[in-house]
Amino acid sequence: GQEIPPVSQRTFSIIKPDAVKNGHAAAILAEISKAGFKLVAIKKIVLTKEQAAGFYYVHAARPFFGELVDFMSSGVIYPMVLEKENAIADLRTLMGATDPAKADEGTIRKMFATSIGENAIHGSDAEETAAFEIPYFFAGYELK
Ligand code: TYD
Repeated sequence: GQEIPPVSQRTFSIIKPDAVKNGHAAAILAEISKAGFKLVAIKKIVLTKEQAAGFYYVHAARPFFGELVDFMSSGVIYPMVLEKENAIADLRTLMGATDPAKADEGTIRKMFATSIGENAIHGSDAEETAAFEIPYFFAGYELK
């Protein structure tokens, strides 16, 4: 019969400053790879406060916004684009709950996060979010 090829999807992720400082970046990449994601693009950067605020603009009115911006601009991060079938939902599952104390066993946040604010990894929560976040960090020529 006719085989239907899997429809691949791209999502956006960041290995956050706490995970980098604590030496977990390579272990997190290994978990992502083990889960079947292709690494389409990755870079190493430190954000300015303005760049961090622009990325998290949807949270601008939240009480934790200032701390979030300070944290996300506090050190090296690894923004990346990941690809697989159902990438957006599957990365959210692999990440675990926002609060690592509530994250399931085996999730990246359970294994590597510090606290609800310093939680090791970001992942796009919807297609529209990924469509904003990917080009916030990567030019088209970096995404071949
Ligand atoms: P959110 O989009 O709710 O979580 P997620 O990263 O799981 O999609 O929040 C964005 C980030 O804001 C979250 O990763 C850490 C920070 N944050 C706090 O510092 N305190 C909070 O109470 C919440 C909800 C988020």
